[in-house]
Amino acid sequence: MDGPSGSGKSSVSRGVARALGLRYLDTGAMYRAMTWWMLREGVDLGDPAAIAARCAEPSIEPGTDPDGPTIHVDGVDVGGPIREADVTGAVSVVAAVPEVRVRLVALQREIIGAGGIVVEGRDIGTVVCPDASVKVYLTASPEARARRRSAEVAGSTVEAQQEAMARRDTLDSTRKTDPLSMAAGAVELDTTALTLDEVIAEVLRLVADQASLS
Ligand code: DC
Repeated sequence: MDGPSGSGKSSVSRGVARALGLRYLDTGAMYRAMTWWMLREGVDLGDPAAIAARCAEPSIEPGTDPDGPTIHVDGVDVGGPIREADVTGAVSVVAAVPEVRVRLVALQREIIGAGGIVVEGRDIGTVVCPDASVKVYLTASPEARARRRSAEVAGSTVEAQQEAMARRDTLDSTRKTDPLSMAAGAVELDTTALTLDEVIAEVLRLVADQASLS
């Protein structure tokens, strides 16, 4: 499940995993966890070489229960801190460093193993799992995405969210390594006018269609 932030990836992925009794992996949380660690260590985020030199150090351990996904860094629960503004503001820079991506993609593939999992991110269908049995690319209008995000973040306005998201979108889709893009064979779903349950139902239909073909 790929797409920009605010497209509904997390809620949809968790709902689909729950409905099908599958595991769930939030790869964005792994990039956020790496960023949280870099900030705590005082690594100069303006220097990609400094990020690359340290990115093998932290142990990043995501849990895969769709009812309660967790994320630990060196045994510390960082589920709350990785959603704070400092991490959100810096994560696109850390995620653009090729060495970070190589390390986290390898970790993601280890967790994914033989499958039975719903994975959300930006490069899942293109890079992490090009052989995934179902690939979905979620989109929504910039206004809808900003509205959803500002409802999640206390004290934020829709306008401020829209501006911050536009900045992150540009960084995420123009970076040299594995930019956000729609995978070959992915089905694009525009969630702007759909409820969460409608999107989940649509994805479950795609999964059922795929199963009947194979
Ligand atoms: O989905 P999110 O907002 O938690 O993602 C945080 C950041 O991590 C976002 O700026 C894009 C990046 N990311 C990525 O580059 N590749 C992924 N597979 C997932 C997230």
